[in-house]
Amino acid sequence: MALCDRIIGNGVGAKAVVAITGLMLTGFVMAHLSGNLLVFAGPEAFNKYAAGLKSLGGILWVARLGLLGIFILHLGLAIRLNLENKAARPQKYVNEATMEATFASRYMVQTGLLLFAFIIYHLAHYTFRVASDDVNAVPAEDVYGMVIAGFSNPIVSGFYVLAMAALAMHLKHGVSSAFQSLGIYHPNLNVVTQKLGPIIAAIVFVGFASIPVSVLMGCIK
Ligand code: HEM
Repeated sequence: MALCDRIIGNGVGAKAVVAITGLMLTGFVMAHLSGNLLVFAGPEAFNKYAAGLKSLGGILWVARLGLLGIFILHLGLAIRLNLENKAARPQKYVNEATMEATFASRYMVQTGLLLFAFIIYHLAHYTFRVASDDVNAVPAEDVYGMVIAGFSNPIVSGFYVLAMAALAMHLKHGVSSAFQSLGIYHPNLNVVTQKLGPIIAAIVFVGFASIPVSVLMGCIK
């Protein structure tokens, strides 16, 4: 407990934990995206993949609980650090435009909170099946059918695309700055880490948003 307090009790340790948990969540997002893209391979391939995940049983529950723990640590420490920073600097800079802050970096808390709301809705939508009568009308084993039913509603699809834009913004800044928070710094390596955030953000946005957009356009049905 004392070691734990020492790590997350000081700003540098807490920043490192936010960075590591952020990179782990990014890994989950990339894995989830590659699985979801199987929707373009048709119902059989996608449902087989979903059934394969569910057949992991206990392992899946351990992974889910691990993911939840990582998520809570990331969110809790990021908000604490943000509040501490604000308390240390109660007055805004006179000219924010002169600061080296990008749009994405300024709105990390806002995009993070929008993602939190998205994840609650997303779990209610597809995992717990309590958010949409259209999704609930499809048998739980037909995850492909659930995705098509869910995204046939343009308002739902619009909210997903908006959430994916927030996710992309969050990752654009978050992934690159995670390396800085961890003290991983080298002029040659920096060229790569600075580009990694925007590249991952673009892949995640185009990849995830392509699913609701394709359903609405009737490309997958
Ligand atoms: C178009 C975008 C997305 C689609 C089509 C999609 C699809 C799905 C589906 C069908 C499930 C339920 C699987 C099942 O229980 O059978 C699910 C679960 C989940 N999704 Fe997504 N997802 C999308 C985007 C995202 C994003 C961007 C995140 C995170 C930022 C995310 C996080 C999760 C989580 C945490 C679960 C619960 C996993 C579990 O219960 O094991 N999803 N997703």
